[in-house]
Amino acid sequence: MQNDLLLRALACNNHSRPPVWLMRQAGRYMASYRKLREKYSFLQMCHEPDLIAEVTSLPIKTFNFDAAILFSDILVIPEAMGLGLQFQDHVGPIIDRPLQSEQDLKLIENVDVGRLNFVEKGIQLLKKELSVPLIGFCGAPFTVASYMIEGKSSPDLKKTKKWMLTDPESFHQVLKVIADWSIAYLNMQIDAGIDAIQIFDSWANTLTHSHFLAFSLPYLNYIMKSLKKSIPVILFCRGSSVFGEELATISPAAISFDWNCNLALMRKKIPYPVAFQGNLDPHVLYSSENVVKKEVKNLLKMMSGDKGFIFNLGHGILPDIPEDSVKCLVDCIKGHSYAS
Ligand code: CP3
Repeated sequence: MQNDLLLRALACNNHSRPPVWLMRQAGRYMASYRKLREKYSFLQMCHEPDLIAEVTSLPIKTFNFDAAILFSDILVIPEAMGLGLQFQDHVGPIIDRPLQSEQDLKLIENVDVGRLNFVEKGIQLLKKELSVPLIGFCGAPFTVASYMIEGKSSPDLKKTKKWMLTDPESFHQVLKVIADWSIAYLNMQIDAGIDAIQIFDSWANTLTHSHFLAFSLPYLNYIMKSLKKSIPVILFCRGSSVFGEELATISPAAISFDWNCNLALMRKKIPYPVAFQGNLDPHVLYSSENVVKKEVKNLLKMMSGDKGFIFNLGHGILPDIPEDSVKCLVDCIKGHSYAS
């Protein structure tokens, strides 16, 4: 690996400019991705090791990011559990057999990550060719449970919350099974050679403070503590601006912040060795080059001298963002002289 800026920042030991990568960096905003999607469905691309490797590398080749994130999806776990998964254009993910109550727990098959060996093979191919660190990932149990229960993306997670509040015991069982699958899956990714892990809790922001402590945080902790090797883990929550200090109590290598908080103020509350990732509002990338530069520089200035800062967005890049804005963002960060 020639460029280890990400790993240095994750260890809060980076004395040069911050590394940059973007959540959802391999996606529809790239013309080269859309071209591949004319030939293959999204799930085909997730299932085929050569395509996993090709798509993961697209944004590295085009934009020179400092890290690659494995091309896959958090929902390959419910698929491997036997619940059935489809992705429909303009709709999103659909789980064929969503869970409705405790009885449905039997639909979930025993942990068998051999069913995800296409991911293992994809990682092995990537490790031969990448010159930057490779981030593996999974979804957080609460977020994955929400898709398994709602059956699709939902604006309010009504079914999930009804279950959580009316039958917390069996809801915990669902979370535990997802966590056990995730641990086996991440350990497989570690064996295959990934350099860091990100866990996505995209729907944590829907939880109250006490429900976050009861239904999300313990499972993030359980997963982190069950990994076979010490490897840096980045925790991304939508809601990390609110739950940051709670996330810090379980000692992740890094917290990835949504765009609501001021990172410099957050740093006063959460010291090293927790690295910070984030947190530009992705919508900034719809604006003019001057505005993009101004916003990027504001964030760089705010975190100047921070040895554990990783530049990223507050959530995934949106499908209609111009590629030129992404080029502008990366150039601006790479041209930045770092005052430590
Ligand atoms: O970041 C990356 O480039 C790596 C790949 C990645 C994808 N999904 C590819 C993808 C990662 C890390 C994810 C994580 C993921 N998937 C999350 C957590 C992160 C987040 O954004 O909150 C969630 C909630 C999912 C579930 C999911 N996958 C949804 C709700 C959708 C539909 C919405 C959408 O953007 O279309 C997807 C589809 C998806 N996952 C696409 C990609 C590139 C678009 C698929 C296409 O080409 O049609």
